[in-house]
Amino acid sequence: MGYQEVYEGWASDPEGFWMQAAEAIDWDRKPSKALFDKGNDLYEWFADGLTNTCWNAVDRHVEAGRGGQVAIIHDSPITGTLHKITYAELRNRVARLAGALRAKGIEKGDRVIIYMPMVPEALEAMLACARLGAIHSVVFGGFAANELAVRIDDATPKAIIAASCGLEPGRVVHYKPLLDGAIDLAKHKPDFTFIFQREQEVAKLNDGYDFDWHGFQYGVEPADCVPVEGNHPAYILYTSGTTGAPKGVIRHTGGHLVALNWTMKNIYNVDPGDTFWAASDVGWVVGHSYICYAPLVHGNTTIVFEGKPVGTPDAGTFWRVISDHKVRSFFTAPTAFRAVKRDDPKGEFVKKYDISCLRAIYLAGERADPDTIEWAQRVTGKPIYDHWWQTETGWTIAGMPAGIEALPVKIGSPSVPMPGYDVQILDEAGHPMKPGELGAIAVKLPLPPGTLPTLWNAEDRFRKSYLSHFPGYYETGDAGMIDEDGYLYIMARTDDVINVAGHRLSTGGMEEVLAAHPDVAECAVIGVSDELKGQLPMGFVCLTTGVNRPHDEITKECVKLVRDKIGPVAAFKLCAVVDRLPKTRSGKILRATMVKIADSEEFKLPATIDDPAILDEIKVALQALGYAKG
Ligand code: COA
Ligand code: AMP
Repeated sequence: MGYQEVYEGWASDPEGFWMQAAEAIDWDRKPSKALFDKGNDLYEWFADGLTNTCWNAVDRHVEAGRGGQVAIIHDSPITGTLHKITYAELRNRVARLAGALRAKGIEKGDRVIIYMPMVPEALEAMLACARLGAIHSVVFGGFAANELAVRIDDATPKAIIAASCGLEPGRVVHYKPLLDGAIDLAKHKPDFTFIFQREQEVAKLNDGYDFDWHGFQYGVEPADCVPVEGNHPAYILYTSGTTGAPKGVIRHTGGHLVALNWTMKNIYNVDPGDTFWAASDVGWVVGHSYICYAPLVHGNTTIVFEGKPVGTPDAGTFWRVISDHKVRSFFTAPTAFRAVKRDDPKGEFVKKYDISCLRAIYLAGERADPDTIEWAQRVTGKPIYDHWWQTETGWTIAGMPAGIEALPVKIGSPSVPMPGYDVQILDEAGHPMKPGELGAIAVKLPLPPGTLPTLWNAEDRFRKSYLSHFPGYYETGDAGMIDEDGYLYIMARTDDVINVAGHRLSTGGMEEVLAAHPDVAECAVIGVSDELKGQLPMGFVCLTTGVNRPHDEITKECVKLVRDKIGPVAAFKLCAVVDRLPKTRSGKILRATMVKIADSEEFKLPATIDDPAILDEIKVALQALGYAKG
């Protein structure tokens, strides 16, 4: 069957399509049907089934006689170590860890925050929660204490599992002080923490509150898998929205298992036993879906890579890992390839390694620019498949269904919608647009299994953010078009979210931080183009009347403030003091126009602009920061 047939098969019988896909999952009680319409545009999948994520990701492979297969490879060029864990070992490790958590009172439905670097113990912590039916929320290590505190207050976890430190090239990230700072800042206080001590930095533990990972597990009874309902939350993952308050995307257990398992063959074209590698971080959705859950549920070997595309030790790292571990399908962000290309434009490093095991490379997380795709294709000789999805969906909305049929690649397009997604381009009034016309990208409800059913503690925000603009549709927040052949093109975000090195960040959140600086009266943060990271945040601040301190002192404080409040991952380094911000007559800041000037793109002067002369002042400030040169 080709792609068209599979897609039409889904469209004509979605219920049958997903019930069939659900056969590949072990259920303690089979679901009676796939879709549960809760009314009022809310849907759930496989709600009355009973299953367990950890059983499907770990135990069942051992039961099936594959306990000796490697489940996780930890390849850490940062520490110079390599460690392999088989499925049988993984089951024992996770069952013991879950037993220790249970002994401390963690039960089904309890929330547990996980704050860990790229070590296998991060996956084990996720799986141990899943084993008990506890709901984990992983927080990326590049966020500051304040961001962690916001998540603690929203998820109200009973426990936090963390490592003593993370390792960035040339820098130890001291997790424990960040964690202590976050718990101090948060209103909600977890009952206890559970600390994985790394040899690179041993953290001080507070008696009776912080428990040592190994000591804590001593003598405990390993825990069995607790069956949970198909609509039981597997995890909450926070992502950036328009404001500083992150959105808690919920993932339900049943749909998550069914959809992710389906993608491994149909999109990533791997069979059980093959090695699959997603070079991301467990703190992001790519890490949840494609470092941890999907490869394990499907019985693949997954790689936990603790390193960077360049500098650990060189631009050949990717090819070395692919060759050493016989990776069949590789997934990374375009920005990582831009970094490799910058250091190794001719692909000299690729020639040093045998990458014949590799079948295809998958890119996602941000727009894949044609130069990068063409370069990667040229130096590797492999097909490069761009695919488009979001934290909210958890898996591909549009991509290449390589395991079904390798369709022609159109550079600049992430290819075609996956079964489950009826993708449409809508005009402002919500009317479908013609092929080739640019509009808002929306998905007709219901969304498929594995996507978000709602936001944690925030159903109103869920409706407002995704459902209210186009009734009957999910609004993706991206703009784009579909061509005559049904290929999708993603052009831009329609909100204040920017994408920095594949990391999703909120300019609104950064504005909230800048506005708290005592000398700042007003501010705007925009995303300007960057050759390496795709976009970079840039701040403009107007000072409170009477402040006459040196401007560079104030901008340095602003840069530090964003780093301290949001974290280094925001990469906020560009900031200027200006007298005024360009606005419409009704007072709306013209951020999009500022972006166009920064990127030296043509723009139409907005008819509603209050005072066009301000744009000249902005241009001067941009030029001082190295932008608007064209
Ligand atoms: N913990 C703590 N700090 C972290 C971190 C983590 N897990 N990840 C990143 N940071 C810090 C970095 O150390 C850096 O700090 P600095 O300002 O002190 O240098 C800052 O956050 C920005 O990091 P990063 O975005 O990684 O930029 P970089 O300049 O260090 O490296 C690239 C550039 C392109 C090599 C890097 O961004 C990269 O590997 N990108 C791939 C992104 C990716 O896989 N995204 C996943 C989406 S699918
Ligand atoms: P995140 O939730 O962090 O995965 O970010 C999702 C957003 O990243 C999307 O809404 C897009 O704006 C952008 N994005 C992800 N993948 C792609 C892609 N292949 N092409 C263009 N933009 C993408």
